[in-house]
Amino acid sequence: MEKEELVQLSLLGEPEPPAPPSPPRPPWETAGTLEELERLVGACRRCRLRAGCRRVVFGEGNPQAALMLVGEGPGQAEDEQGRPFVGAAGQLLNNILAAAGIERSEVFIGNVVKCRPPGNRLPLPDEVKACRPYLEAQLRLIRPRIVVCLGALAAQTLIDPAVRITRERGRWVEKDGLLIMPTFHPAALLRDPSKKRPVWQDFQAVLERYRGKEVTPDKTPGL
Ligand code: URA
Repeated sequence: MEKEELVQLSLLGEPEPPAPPSPPRPPWETAGTLEELERLVGACRRCRLRAGCRRVVFGEGNPQAALMLVGEGPGQAEDEQGRPFVGAAGQLLNNILAAAGIERSEVFIGNVVKCRPPGNRLPLPDEVKACRPYLEAQLRLIRPRIVVCLGALAAQTLIDPAVRITRERGRWVEKDGLLIMPTFHPAALLRDPSKKRPVWQDFQAVLERYRGKEVTPDKTPGL
């Protein structure tokens, strides 16, 4: 081969090898509806919790809610009924929503983990890690404007692992296009009624953003 031809060939270079196929995306990232996601969550065995609970509690409410509430994980009543916040803490949450003039059916209520931890213990870090993609997928599909984190675990999962709820509750956080309000968990109010007043203040702040109008500060209703 002439030298000139060789130079031309080397300029053209070898044909690019085909790019390796990208790994398939996990199904929760491609689920297009909440129903599809719920089916995936119902079949999940990514952590030990499913083996020890009765029902998977996916969450419930308006699939296009502008306001989403995120708790910790199902307790006994939720595990029995397959619905979030239906026990004593749920009753208190219902009272807070009713006092704020918010219908339960207009918001979406979910949890960090979808299966009840045995004996109502806190979910372990690896259980939170395994379940987190489902919460992220719920946020992607529902696209709420506002998220209320009910308790430390939700705030640490959605805001920052270093959040201390006593110090940071009541302060808005903007993250990933969401307005996030951390507040105490309703179960904490059952144990310590002095927390009702700050939680009511936090819900007034939420209401103001949610309804887009100023809310006259109200004295704490009988929750
Ligand atoms: N506590 C939670 O965090 N979530 C529920 O669904 C019920 C109680």
